[in-house]
Amino acid sequence: MPEPSARERHLAELAAALRSRLVEGRRLEVAAGAGEVGLAAAARALVEREAAILSGAEREEVVARIVRDSVGLGALEDLLADPAVEEVMVNGPGTVYVERHGLIEPTDVAFADEEELRNTIERILAPLGRRVDELSPMVDARLADGSRVNVVVPPLAIDGPVVSIRRFGAERPGPSALVARGTLTAAQHDLLAGAVGARRSVLVSGGTGSGKTTLLNALSGFVSPRERVVTIEDAAELRLRQPHVVRLESRPAGVEGRGEVTIRDLLRNALRMRPDRIVIGEVRGAEALDLLTALNTGHDGALSTLHANSPADALARLETLALMAGVGLPHEAIAEQVQRGIDLVVHLERRQDGSRVVAEIAEVVRAAGTTAVRTLESAERR
Ligand SMILES: Nc1ncnc2c1ncn2[C@@H]1O[C@H](COP(=O)(O)OP(=O)(O)OP(=O)(O)O)[C@@H](O)[C@H]1O
Ligand SMILES: [Mg+2]
Repeated sequence: MPEPSARERHLAELAAALRSRLVEGRRLEVAAGAGEVGLAAAARALVEREAAILSGAEREEVVARIVRDSVGLGALEDLLADPAVEEVMVNGPGTVYVERHGLIEPTDVAFADEEELRNTIERILAPLGRRVDELSPMVDARLADGSRVNVVVPPLAIDGPVVSIRRFGAERPGPSALVARGTLTAAQHDLLAGAVGARRSVLVSGGTGSGKTTLLNALSGFVSPRERVVTIEDAAELRLRQPHVVRLESRPAGVEGRGEVTIRDLLRNALRMRPDRIVIGEVRGAEALDLLTALNTGHDGALSTLHANSPADALARLETLALMAGVGLPHEAIAEQVQRGIDLVVHLERRQDGSRVVAEIAEVVRAAGTTAVRTLESAERR
């Protein structure tokens, strides 16, 4: 039947074209700071405007197609429905791995072809007003449940689009759960409870995926419920249980290169929000300098994470990041701010069996003018 199939094709093409327009429009809106509009409502408005020539029934059909193709995660849905899955890793259409209980395993999930994987990626990103293409081939986003998504597409990803989803189960472990899991010893738990409660500034260090954010989240449980906490993150992963929390999230620049709001911008702003505590998801750029300044001007008790191989390395990295902020402060001045500003470094390690343990808790000390650490607690338990 050539008639309906031509019509079918026409509607499908129209829906696809309008859907990319919708994604583009929403991305610009989000970049301009506009609030979220319902997807269906936005699709309907666009179809009313652009396809008024169609009959009412056909317009509804186009709207339905746009919405259908904009939600749902296809092949990934089953994996994401499994609460034991902590991470989903798509390495091109044919290869999908998951991490369960800290261990990576292959799955038999696959996408029919690259096209299908790209559609799924678009469905993940479209409702967030984000887009990935040759011009911006890497993107970070966050699903409605708080899971973090990273996408890299060709030509940067050589074997097809790569998607990494860091799931967060509804519950994030608190300090006692981390003791039960063997991440913290009872002694470490008590030491950290005392330190955070006493408003000492704590840096959590460790390698990629060593459980830094999870521990940071747990540590926030030691903050008094009377304090006003401001959290600052690239992708909001933290789930604080405190009653009085303000959450801020940074924003990348749009394709036209404008609208970027960095962690550093947010930190500077947060200082004007009467915070009792500042929690920064991860320090990895120029915000290191502003953090040190804040810590040295009365905003004590900050909590953050930093990618490093040891507590000493964490302090060295913090210094380097602050130096790279480029205000021409001499190295000694920055080193001094680190010594005065940071009290403890908690270092995590990921073990072969997939478990995460606090390998060391170190105190920042001054030794002969240079920054040094003294081990308070080290895990010689296994
Ligand atoms: N204490 C723990 N015991 C077992 N698994 C954990 C623990 N903490 C975190 N995980 C798991 O490890 C993964 C990474 O956790 P998390 O995001 O806290 O690490 P991270 O060090 O902040 O990672 P990144 O370097 O990407 O920021 C998650 O899938 C989480 O479920
Ligand atoms: Mg993290």
